[in-house]
Amino acid sequence: MPSIYDRIGGTPAITAVVDDFYRRVCADADLAGFFARVDLDRLKARQVEYFSTVLGGPAVYTGASMRQVHRGLGISRRHFDRVVRHLVAALTVAEVPGELVDEIVAALAPLARDIVVPRAPRSGLGRSGSRIWVWSSTFGATAGR
Ligand code: HEM
Repeated sequence: MPSIYDRIGGTPAITAVVDDFYRRVCADADLAGFFARVDLDRLKARQVEYFSTVLGGPAVYTGASMRQVHRGLGISRRHFDRVVRHLVAALTVAEVPGELVDEIVAALAPLARDIVVPRAPRSGLGRSGSRIWVWSSTFGATAGR
């Protein structure tokens, strides 16, 4: 069975899809801010390498890990899903068959673990008489003074 990389049309097809993908992402008001100060030509080149590598083509990716690259950007699950939706649109317009699009989405879905920041635990301060206490949904209530 040929790789997804080969079935999609190799580097030329991935380059075209990545170009259209970032056009869509940067036209999305909810996402554009993330990319405002990014060198897009460099990012697109890395993304072509990354997709080629994860889709079973030559392992040419030269960038850092997904966790390192996206650290501190504050990407939520909603942002992640919107980005994936733009990728699906770019693949569909490039006439990549639906089953292949599904396979690509399935290959990328687990990356959310490294890209999306975990939801901040809910916490707060409470007061009862003279005692002040701190509560947190992750650690349970901790009595303090
Ligand atoms: C399927 C999901 C994603 C993949 C495979 C992916 C992949 C990549 C790759 C390969 C790079 C370049 C790394 C490098 O420069 O060495 C990158 C950078 C970047 N990504 Fe993602 N990404 C994904 C999702 C997202 C999402 C959801 C956002 C924000 C909404 C995002 C925002 C960025 C930004 C802002 C950079 C540039 C960081 C910088 O140069 O400082 N990415 N991503």
